[in-house]
Amino acid sequence: MNFPLVRMRRLRNSSNIRQLVSETTLSISDMIQPLFVIHGENKKEEIPSMPGQYHLSIDNLVEESVKIHKLGIPAILLFGMPLTKDPRGSEALSPSGIVQQAVRALKKNVPDLCVITDICLCAYTDHGHCGIVQGNSIMNDDTLDLLRKVALSHAQAGADMVAPSDMMDGRVLAIRQILDANNFSHIPIMSYSAKYASAFYGPFRQAADSAPAFGDRSTYQANPANRREAVREAMLDLQEGADIVMVKPALAYLDVIKEIRNILFAPIAAYNVSGEYSMVKAAAMNGWLDERRVVMELLTSIKRAGADMIITYHARDVARWLKGESADEKEKKPAVKKISKNESLNFTQEGKSLPRREK
Ligand code: PBG
Repeated sequence: MNFPLVRMRRLRNSSNIRQLVSETTLSISDMIQPLFVIHGENKKEEIPSMPGQYHLSIDNLVEESVKIHKLGIPAILLFGMPLTKDPRGSEALSPSGIVQQAVRALKKNVPDLCVITDICLCAYTDHGHCGIVQGNSIMNDDTLDLLRKVALSHAQAGADMVAPSDMMDGRVLAIRQILDANNFSHIPIMSYSAKYASAFYGPFRQAADSAPAFGDRSTYQANPANRREAVREAMLDLQEGADIVMVKPALAYLDVIKEIRNILFAPIAAYNVSGEYSMVKAAAMNGWLDERRVVMELLTSIKRAGADMIITYHARDVARWLKGESADEKEKKPAVKKISKNESLNFTQEGKSLPRREK
């Protein structure tokens, strides 16, 4: 069948029909908001490279997390900034480390919010690498000993899930074993399986002060040119006991998400990373892009590619948009129209339907 019997525009004619035939929905329940915690009290410092994101002391982190929970966002991903750095990233595994303290405070004050912790050393080491350094090499198996201790200390503090992002071989198995041996067999591992050696982490490294002091991460993070390699990484992680596999970054790697979705059955998380966020923010701040529509379109594309959940710095804004509020709480305008939590992507402005097309 073909034109004139077939007219694709029939199903685009009204917003109701477009919603009925929408193949992908973005919902608040898919979102994970990353947060950065620092030592001190009553601190809330905007991260210059990531407008709208903050370094928060624990008191403010708790307050922010209460809001995030009220918005209906199911989870946060926590990154800590240590007081001091050393060659082995000692604070990362200390019971009094910043993340461990923060997790205890969060579980006490916002027990129903899922707290996922990033497991890595790069923000804690003075050389900025994700593992122990000897000469110019990053030592894989020695690093595993530290990573398991970091994971155990997070679980002991009360973390609901751990997310290793270091890209050492064998880390998922090492972490699974130590968790299981310490009565944490119920704690899931979200593995940064396909983590690419990407320039899109730039703003995050400024935020976390975690850029490597020498060389780069290409001896442990994946080559952006490779897709099959990412599938192997994800398969290996699942064999080692990972519960959720991640693709990171998201937008330049949608084909990788789709490939893993086609081959494997595990839940997939996509990390819409700092550089992807800051590009949109910068353009929006210049008035070059309509931030809300661009963000909804980008995040929908990540779900369309096959991701089950999205780690994104836009999560709070998206949650407010989906609730029909303006993103900035201060400039609350009356909502144009209440839209459902599971509103599908609608390319019309603010819920208004397009002017009728001529027939
Ligand atoms: C740590 C880590 C990084 C990110 C998450 N965990 C940076 C890196 O590998 O240098 C990046 C997150 C982002 O860019 O938003 N290994």
